[in-house]
Amino acid sequence: MRSVAITNIGSLVTNDQSLELGLLGELRDSAIVVEDGLVAWVGSAAAVPETDDSIDVEGRTVLPGFVDSHAHLLFAGDRAAEFSARMSGQAYAAGGIRTTVAATRAATDAELEANYLRLVAEMLSSGITTFETKSGYGLTVEDEARALRIAAKHTAETTFLGAHVVPAEFTDRPDDYVALVKGEMLNQVADSAKWIDVFCDRGAFTEEQAREILLAGKAVGLQLRIHANQLQQGSGIQLAVELDCASADHCTHFNQADIDALAGSNTVATLLPGAEFSTRATYPDARKLWDAGVKVAIATDCNPGSSYTTSIPFSIAVAVRDMHFTVEQAIWSATMGGAMALRRSDVGTIKVGMRADLIDLNAPSALHLAYRPGVNLINQTYTSEAFK
Ligand code: NIG
Ligand code: FE
Repeated sequence: MRSVAITNIGSLVTNDQSLELGLLGELRDSAIVVEDGLVAWVGSAAAVPETDDSIDVEGRTVLPGFVDSHAHLLFAGDRAAEFSARMSGQAYAAGGIRTTVAATRAATDAELEANYLRLVAEMLSSGITTFETKSGYGLTVEDEARALRIAAKHTAETTFLGAHVVPAEFTDRPDDYVALVKGEMLNQVADSAKWIDVFCDRGAFTEEQAREILLAGKAVGLQLRIHANQLQQGSGIQLAVELDCASADHCTHFNQADIDALAGSNTVATLLPGAEFSTRATYPDARKLWDAGVKVAIATDCNPGSSYTTSIPFSIAVAVRDMHFTVEQAIWSATMGGAMALRRSDVGTIKVGMRADLIDLNAPSALHLAYRPGVNLINQTYTSEAFK
């Protein structure tokens, strides 16, 4: 069994609440020992046990790898022109998804996987060590199945999003498309998907359709998550809580009843600052959710339409500046919050027994993630496998 010490850590974000060192459980002048890819010891730099190898981080900051619980990485083409039109005043609408569906259907398997791997590499270099990805740009049985087959080669967190939008060929008969999603499409993807998701919003699927589709997924063993209240105040958040979804994502709009429902539930509110940024939507008040006791995650929502970024540091900076989060709350939400949104208990914190998924940050504290917006501060990202 290989043991590696990470020494000379100026600031260590553990997220370990039992240390009673504030929200981030920050230790100064510390060290970590990793054995066989798992954290085996955390303590003072002066007391580090002997190990096979060691890495000196020269006083920099170490924090848990980011957990990106919401991304759409299986697609082809780009929509830069649509983004540019929005920045000159045009509104965002769910219908833009169809542009990417056409490009994705036309792509070969190799093209689709190459684009996916390019984005995964970007994520790793921005500190993401666990990521979720969805299908949703194929919208035929074959195209959804191949997207999830390719996705599952590179992450365990795969989500079937056949109910992203009704594809053009079903415009006049949306009920037939819902039946296809719940039936043959679901059967063909069930082996390579862990989660099922529905875009429950204006221009996409209704609450009733979303409930039917999510329950059909549950019946074949998939776990539930939902795109809720991105484009308007609706019933998506209430549905998420009713069905015990792991997460209600976007929550751009919410009211007091939504806050109360989330606060008394196991459903995480996943906020996606990149989406409000790229669609010029009004930012939700993250602090309001947090203060009410709602568990909040921050994720990238990386997709070619509404949020073409793989950068969690960018998302953290926007959440702090425009969603009223403290820097600590934003960092917690992008690590522990993401882990909770994926119902994972092996990532998001640095304590004994956890996966050694780590970021070595070129800064004296993690506060610099928001304090130095747009600057790449990641010196190195380590995943548990790198230590084996
Ligand atoms: O999460 N909201 C729905 N789906 C994506 C956007 C997809 C697109 O515009 O291509 C999102 O923002
Ligand atoms: Fe999304």
